[in-house]
Parts: sequence; C-alpha cells; structure tokens
Amino acid sequence: MLPFFPRLNPMKLLAMCCLLLMSVTTSMTTTSVAIQGNEEAYALLDWKASFEKQSQALLSSWNGSDPCHWVGIACDHSKSVSSLNFTKFGLRGTLQTLNFSSLPNIHTIAMSNNSFYGTIPKQIGVLSNLDTLDVHYNQFSGFIPKQIGSLSKLTVLDLGANNFLGNIPQETKHLSNLKYLAFAYNNNLRGSIPAELGMLGNLTDLRFEHCNLTGSIPTTIGNLTNLSVLNLNDNHLDGPIPREIGKLVNVKYLWLQNNELSGSIPQEIGLMTNLFQLDFSSNNLSGCIPSTIGNLSNLAYLYLFQNFFSGSIPDEVGKLYSLTTIQLLTNNLSGTIPPSIGNLVNLNSILLRDNTLLGPIPSTIGKLVNLVLLDLSGNMLSGTVPFSIGNLTKLSKLVLLSNELSGEIPIELIKLTELEDLQLAYNHFNGQLPHNICTSGNLAKLSATNNYFTGVVPSSLKNCSSLVRLRLDGNQITGNITESFNVYPNLDYIDLSENNFHGHLSSKWGKCSNLTCLRISNNNLSGAIPPELGEATNLQELDLSSNHLTGAIPKELGKLTLMIQLLLSNNSFSGNVPIQISVGFFSPL
Ligand SMILES: *[C@@H]1O[C@H](CO)[C@@H](O)[C@H](O)[C@H]1NC(C)=O
Ligand SMILES: *[C@@H]1O[C@H](CO)[C@@H](O)[C@H](O)[C@H]1NC(C)=O
Ligand SMILES: *[C@@H]1O[C@H](CO)[C@@H](O)[C@H](O)[C@H]1NC(C)=O
Ligand SMILES: *[C@@H]1O[C@H](CO)[C@@H](O)[C@H](O)[C@H]1NC(C)=O
Ligand SMILES: *[C@@H]1O[C@H](CO)[C@@H](O)[C@H](O)[C@H]1NC(C)=O
Ligand SMILES: *[C@@H]1O[C@H](CO)[C@@H](O)[C@H](O)[C@H]1NC(C)=O
Ligand SMILES: *[C@@H]1O[C@H](CO)[C@@H](O)[C@H](O)[C@H]1NC(C)=O
Ligand SMILES: *[C@@H]1O[C@H](CO)[C@@H](O)[C@H](O)[C@H]1NC(C)=O
Ligand SMILES: *[C@@H]1O[C@H](CO)[C@@H](O)[C@H](O)[C@H]1NC(C)=O
Ligand SMILES: *[C@@H]1O[C@H](CO)[C@@H](O)[C@H](O)[C@H]1NC(C)=O
Ligand SMILES: *[C@@H]1O[C@H](CO)[C@@H](O)[C@H](O)[C@H]1NC(C)=O
Ligand SMILES: *[C@@H]1O[C@H](CO)[C@@H](O)[C@H](O)[C@H]1NC(C)=O
Repeated sequence: MLPFFPRLNPMKLLAMCCLLLMSVTTSMTTTSVAIQGNEEAYALLDWKASFEKQSQALLSSWNGSDPCHWVGIACDHSKSVSSLNFTKFGLRGTLQTLNFSSLPNIHTIAMSNNSFYGTIPKQIGVLSNLDTLDVHYNQFSGFIPKQIGSLSKLTVLDLGANNFLGNIPQETKHLSNLKYLAFAYNNNLRGSIPAELGMLGNLTDLRFEHCNLTGSIPTTIGNLTNLSVLNLNDNHLDGPIPREIGKLVNVKYLWLQNNELSGSIPQEIGLMTNLFQLDFSSNNLSGCIPSTIGNLSNLAYLYLFQNFFSGSIPDEVGKLYSLTTIQLLTNNLSGTIPPSIGNLVNLNSILLRDNTLLGPIPSTIGKLVNLVLLDLSGNMLSGTVPFSIGNLTKLSKLVLLSNELSGEIPIELIKLTELEDLQLAYNHFNGQLPHNICTSGNLAKLSATNNYFTGVVPSSLKNCSSLVRLRLDGNQITGNITESFNVYPNLDYIDLSENNFHGHLSSKWGKCSNLTCLRISNNNLSGAIPPELGEATNLQELDLSSNHLTGAIPKELGKLTLMIQLLLSNNSFSGNVPIQISVGFFSPL
C-alpha cells in the first residue's frame, strides 16, 4: 500500500485519489476550495472510522471527497462544511477523534439524542464561528471544558441530559450572544449558579433543572430581562427568591420547584406580568402570598404547594382570570376561601388540601363551570355544601374529606354526571345520601366514612356497576343488606362496618370477582355465611366480626388462597373451623 499515507483508511485513500485527479483538471481557485473540502472530508471520514460498525453503516453516504452531499452535513456557499446535524441519528462514538481544526467554518453542531460518550475535547474552543452547540441527550461525561468560553458567537448551548461533572464554568459569562443556555439533567454537576451569568443579557432560555446545584439564586438574574423561560427545578438551591426577579417582565415560565428556597415571595412578583406558569412548589418558602400576585393576568398555572405559606389566600387571586390550575396544597394557609375565586371561570383544577382553611365553601364556586377537580380536604371548613355545586357539570373528582362540613349532601349533586370520585369521609354530614348519586353510571369511588349518614343505601347505588371502591363505614345506615347491594363487576373494596345493616349475607358477593376486601363488621347480620363466598377468589380481607351470624363456617372459604386477614369473631357460629383455611390472621371466635 502507499507508505506515505500511513494513518489513512481506505475510504480516505479513495478520496485522496479523487482530489489528485481534480487538482490537475480544475483551475487554481476551485482547487483551493476543493483542497479545503477534502481536508474537511478527511477529518470527517477519520471521525466516522472511529465509530462503532452500526453507526458507520448509518453514514454509508459518507464516501468520496464531497462532504456537502453526505447525510447530516451541510455546506456554505463556498462548499465548506458549515453544519453537522445528527439529531436523533442513533450514532455511538466520541468527539475525541474529530479534528475540529479541520472544520473552521462550522457554525452548527446539533447532535442531540444520540449515544456519544467521553469528554468534550478542549479543542472545541477553535470553532470560532460556532453558533449552535446542541449535544443534549447523549452520554458525555467529564468536566465541561473552559474553552467553551471561547465560542463567542454561540447563541445556543445545550449540554443537557448528559453526565457532566463539576461546576458550571465561569467562562460561560463570555458568551454574550447566548440566547439559549441549558445544562439540565446533569445530575453530577454541583456548585452554584455563577453570578456572572447576569452578563448574558440576550438569554431567553435558562434551563438548569436537575443539576444538583447549590447556593442561592444570584441577584444578577435580574439583568436577564430578555428571559422567557427560567427553569431551576430540582436542585438544592437555598436562600431567598431575589426581589430582582421582578425585572424579568418577559418570563412566561418560572420554575423553581423542588429546591430549598426560603423566605417569602417578593412583592415584585406582581411585575412579571407575562407569567404563564409559576411553580414554587416543594421549597421552604413562608410568609403570606403577596396580593400583588393579582396582577399576573396571564397566569394559567399557579403551583405553591408543599411550602410553609401562612395567612389567608389573598382576595386578589380572584383577578387571575387566565388561571386554569391552582395548587396551594400542604401549606399553613388560614382564613376563608375568598369568594372572588368564583371569578376564575377558566379553572379546571383547585387543590387546597392540607391547610387550615376555615369557614364555608363559597357559593360562588358554582360559577366555575369548567372545574374537573376540586380538592378541599384536610382543612377546617364548616357549613353545608352549597347548592351551586350542581353547576359544576364537568366535575370528575370532588374531595371534601376531613373537614367540619355538616348538613345534608345537596340533591344537586346528581347533576354532576361526570363524577367518578366523591370523598365525603370524616365530616359531620347527616341525612340520607342523595338517592340518585350514581344515576350517570360513572361513579367509581365513594367514600362517606365517619359521618352521621342515616337511612337506606340510595337505590342508584344498588346497581352502580362502575363502582370500584365504596366506603360507608362508621355511619348509621340501615336496611336489609341483601336488598341494598348487587353484583359489582369492578368492585375492589367495600367497607360497610359500623352501621345498622341487617338481613342475611347474600351469595351474590361471591360473584364480585374483583373484590379484594369485604368488611361488614359491627352490624346486625344474621343467618349463615353463604358457601358461594368462596368463589370471590381475589378476596384478601374478609371481616364479618361482631354480627349475629350463625351456622357452620363454610369449608369453601378455604379456596380463598389469597386471604391475608379473616375476621369472624363475635358471632354465633357452630361446629369446627375448617382446617383448610390457612391465613395470616384468623380469629374465628
Ligand atoms: C457512497 O455514497 C452514495 C450516496 O451518496 C451511495 O449510493 C453509495 O452506495 C456509497 N458507496 C459506498 C461504497 O458506500
Ligand atoms: C437538525 O435537524 C433536525 C431534523 O432534520 C431539525 O429539526 C433541526 O432544526 C436541525 N437543527 C439545527 C440546529 O439545524
Ligand atoms: C488537524 O487538522 C489541522 C488542520 O488541518 C492539522 O494541522 C492537524 O495536524 C490535524 N491534527 C491531527 C491530530 O490530525
Ligand atoms: C430519541 O429518539 C428516539 C427515537 O428516535 C425517541 O424514541 C426518543 O423519544 C428520543 N428521545 C428524546 C429525549 O428526544
Ligand atoms: C450532588 O452533590 C452532592 C455534593 O454537593 C453530592 O454529595 C451528591 O452525590 C450529588 N448528587 C449526585 C446525584 O451526583
Ligand atoms: C447587570 O446590569 C447592570 C446594569 O446594566 C450592570 O452594571 C451590571 O454589571 C450587570 N451585572 C452583571 C453581573 O452582569
Ligand atoms: C446581545 O447580542 C448583541 C448581538 O446580537 C450584542 O451586540 C449585545 O452586546 C448582546 N447583549 C449583551 C448584554 O451581551
Ligand atoms: C435583549 O435582546 C435584545 C435583542 O436581542 C438586545 O438588543 C438587548 O440588548 C437585550 N437586553 C439585554 C438586557 O441585554
Ligand atoms: C427546609 O425544610 C425542611 C423541613 O422543614 C428542613 O428539614 C430543612 O432543613 C429546611 N432547609 C432549609 C435550607 O431551610
Ligand atoms: C351556574 O352557572 C351559570 C353559568 O353557566 C351561571 O350563570 C350561574 O350564576 C351559576 N350559578 C351559580 C349558583 O353559581
Ligand atoms: C375486573 O376483573 C375483570 C376480569 O375479571 C377485568 O377485566 C377488569 O379489568 C377488572 N376491573 C378492575 C377495575 O380491575
Ligand atoms: C332481606 O331481603 C331478602 C330479599 O328480598 C329477603 O328474602 C329477606 O327476607 C330479607 N330479610 C329480612 C331480615 O328482612
């Protein structure tokens, strides 16, 4: 072979020969361009040769000496390589083997969503024309080279979703043309956000989520007045939210979720009038929700959950006309729910659970006709459920669990034809459950545990075939148990304990093939356990204790091999316990 080209692979040799042919047949000027083109071709072919076989196969068009026609490559008007774009090609290789010096005119490297690994070589700093460097979603590792700071024309730098180590390089501050800066999802990064990033006034996107960053948010962030997206979610940032944030009047997405930020929300938040999503959830923030929040007329998503906010929900929340989602759950909010919430007709979800809210559910809630989810559980709300609730015809989940609510459940509830999940447990409700509670046939979960409900089971519930989970335990509900319930094909869990049901246990329960838990303890049941119960083969818990059941315990219960807890004590059974029953906890007497 040709000993004076020792490093070259056969592909490259072929290219060389073409070059020699070309140089004798073309003019001086075109030859110099061609030489340039070939030098680029060699560099790329050398690089390709270092890839794994499968990746090389994907680049089969890379042959000859004219890279401008190769897949993933684009050239400028002088036929010099200007762009490498391998987005989602599925390539596996490294950058170590690419001679960057041979590609001086390149302005785009876009290779996101591949399997490149190894470090980013220092030599990348020679690409003085580079405008876009997007390598997100690869397996690069090692430190981010400080030479990145030499790429002064960069407008897009995305190193996200790799395994880079160490700090965000200070040198990033030199990239004054940057618009898009992302290091997101590099869980091994550490250190703080360099204050000098405040010099990058052209930034529109700053995405540092999931980077294990510590320290506080630098006040210089306020210099980035072109920002539209600020995502610092899922780091270990502490200290306050700087009041300078109020200068970021163009930010639409402000995501600070899941850090250790403390202090209160600065009043200046009200100046960020372009905000569309605000997420401060899962931090250590405290103090009141500032009333200036009412100025955010474009806000659609407000997430302040899992903090230590106190005071009342400001009345000004009622001015957030664009709001679709408000999640203030798990804070120390007190006071009443402002009636102004009724103005927010675009709301489809309200989550206020686990606070210390007082007073009535405002009747203005009936204006929120787009509401799908309403969760007010775990507060100290009192009074009755307003009739206007019947207006919320799109409501699919209504959670009033654990409050001080009382009175009867308004009959208007039957208008909620989309309702799938109704949780009324641990309140002081009384009267009968509304008779048409399952008319629509969508109800899957009903929990009325520990209230003062009386009367019989509503007739619509008897044939509610959509039921999956039903808890009526801890009330004063009466009736013949055989007549009150039917066969529920999807029923998984039913608890009727501590009520006044009487009559015989129906053999129909054996046909509820999905049933895992049946509890009817502390009622007035009589008669024998039907042997058919042994056909409910998914049963794991059966509690019939403290009734007046008689007869022999049917040996068929021994077929219930998944049984974990079988409680039959405090009845009047006769005969021996069938020995086939082998369960974790069994108390027959
Ligand atoms: C070279 O590339 C062309 C497409 O540009 C392709 O048709 C041809 O099969 C390739 N030749 C080799 C030897 O890979
Ligand atoms: C790279 O190619 C993809 C798909 O062809 C395209 O969507 C994307 O805009 C390109 N990226 C750059 C920076 O040119
Ligand atoms: C890389 O390319 C430059 C310019 O073409 C050349 O001078 C240099 O020797 C090359 N480096 C390697 C390691 O091949
Ligand atoms: C990467 O590409 C694959 C297939 O092309 C796709 O399924 C996957 O969703 C992509 N991942 C990302 C993060 O874009
Ligand atoms: C995050 O940084 C801390 C030290 O600051 C380190 O102990 C921890 O392992 C890092 N987490 C990950 C996922 O690298
Ligand atoms: C922020 O902007 C001010 C005024 O424009 C400037 O004096 C200051 O140097 C900037 N700070 C940083 C860190 O860029
Ligand atoms: C923003 O970019 C322009 C050129 O696009 C540049 O002149 C200007 O200095 C940059 N702004 C900052 C704050 O660096
Ligand atoms: C915001 O962007 C515009 C246009 O790119 C630029 O002229 C201006 O200097 C930038 N603002 C700052 C504070 O850099
Ligand atoms: C944040 O709050 C949690 C829970 O109260 C506490 O353990 C943690 O030390 C707090 N962190 C900071 C930085 O205040
Ligand atoms: C019910 O909704 C309508 C709009 O669909 C509204 O006009 C009416 O005031 C609401 N009723 C109550 C009680 O909120
Ligand atoms: C109930 O069981 C049937 C089969 O026995 C199954 O198709 C269905 O998905 C189950 N329902 C639920 C809610 O698990
Ligand atoms: C309960 O209802 C069933 C079916 O209607 C009936 O046969 C039975 O006599 C009733 N039991 C009592 C105690 O009323």
